Amino acid sequence: MGNMIPASDATALDLLLEKVCRDGRHDFRGYKHGTVTRRLERRLHATGVKPYLEYMQFLDAYPEEYQRLADDLTIKVSGFFRSPYTFQQIASLVLPELVSDKTNRGQQSLGIWSTACARGEEPYSIAILLTEFLGHRLRDFNIAIYATDIGRQALNEAQTGIYRNIDGLSDTILDNYFTRSGEGYVVSTDIRRMVSFLYFDLVSTQTPPFMNLDCVFCCNILIYLQKQLQEKVLDMLYSSLATPGYLILGEVETPTDNLRGRLECLDTKARIYKKDVKVD
Ligand SMILES: C[S@@+](CC[C@H](N)C(=O)[O-])C[C@H]1O[C@@H](n2cnc3c(N)ncnc32)[C@H](O)[C@@H]1O
Repeated sequence: MGNMIPASDATALDLLLEKVCRDGRHDFRGYKHGTVTRRLERRLHATGVKPYLEYMQFLDAYPEEYQRLADDLTIKVSGFFRSPYTFQQIASLVLPELVSDKTNRGQQSLGIWSTACARGEEPYSIAILLTEFLGHRLRDFNIAIYATDIGRQALNEAQTGIYRNIDGLSDTILDNYFTRSGEGYVVSTDIRRMVSFLYFDLVSTQTPPFMNLDCVFCCNILIYLQKQLQEKVLDMLYSSLATPGYLILGEVETPTDNLRGRLECLDTKARIYKKDVKVD
């Protein structure tokens, strides 16, 4: 019931999202309308403009509002090792298998994509995890961690590697991979070098920017999308994976029906799925 929107508001919302897509180049049409309307309220409140149709005129008068709207519609909440159990299971289920498979094939590259990286906590956690896991073998591998998002400001902040909130990090990890910087902490250069931050919109593009990846993280973004869009995004991510390759979702996210039978679930709770020859 909470997500029910009166028909006239729904039409106005559709018109507004069409406009934002066309003139603002941000496509939120396939996002869950309940979340979108709740977040939109914040912009209406901040600008003092109501209803949606007037807000559309406001967008014409102040085009810089498009970016503010996009920033408000996308939720950047994240954290280092945000789902500790998942990271633990990646270390015990995924990395041993992946690294031994690579070694057996004489391959030295590891490609990983953090698809909605927010301010970088997730890709930096991945880099730390790999460094801890590989130890002295780290130098035997060419590691590329791609981290993408549509939040340009978030990507810029991620690149600086400076954080005030370091909840979830043990003292050992802090000592080994961070240094104090003013009131916060900065990620070590070695870890920062492992991650490349880029703008990429998961929703408006059907072709993946990277291929043959070993691991793809798509955490806490699907929950904001309607089913059909979830399917489209997951199809694209599936095609970016190598075989074998691993897909990691957020704690409350699951693969959509179109991927059923094409992914093996390695751990239901950790949301770790494998694209394998057997199920391809
Ligand atoms: C809640 S954060 C998730 C951060 C991290 N993956 C985690 O699990 O902690 C959601 C992120 O998805 C990004 N996002 C939303 N729509 C997107 C899109 N179409 N393409 C890429 N990123 C998007 C937002 O900008 C935000 O940074």
